[in-house]
Amino acid sequence: MKSYHILDCDNQQKIADSLYGYYIGITANRKPKSFWNTLSRKEIQDYFLIPNNPCKKWFDSLGLKVRDMSFTFRTEEITVGIHKDDPPVIAKINFPVLNTEDTYNVWFDDSGNEIDRVECTRPVVLRSNILHTVEIGKNAQYPRLQFSFCFYNEPLLLSKLDTQ
Ligand SMILES: [Fe+2]
Repeated sequence: MKSYHILDCDNQQKIADSLYGYYIGITANRKPKSFWNTLSRKEIQDYFLIPNNPCKKWFDSLGLKVRDMSFTFRTEEITVGIHKDDPPVIAKINFPVLNTEDTYNVWFDDSGNEIDRVECTRPVVLRSNILHTVEIGKNAQYPRLQFSFCFYNEPLLLSKLDTQ
């Protein structure tokens, strides 16, 4: 079973800059204290209403309608263990924003054996309903920031995750 699929994205830096700008805005008065940080309906709406939003353009081009938007925030103190994400979503798109070099998404079977890993430097569709975690290499920098999106229409066909 495939656990991830790297997506082509011509505007990766532009989208990362846009997400970083938004992150700076929403965290000005609420410093992230946990790994997983869910955005409110209003915050998601506000982000996608930004004119010429390159992230919106990209999802539109992929035919994806955003259902939820979160960011993950990893520091030396704020960590994450092996877990499965909550149902009903089984595929998400993770978008690297800051300090994702030498950090890895790693997947495991139910016995805890590693089955897949990918460095978090490109946008990926990932299986979130099987055991996974984030591993940090010795050259990684903090804070590490990724945005995570899920959709009304699961991006499974796009990634062929359902056929392998
Ligand atoms: Fe997760």
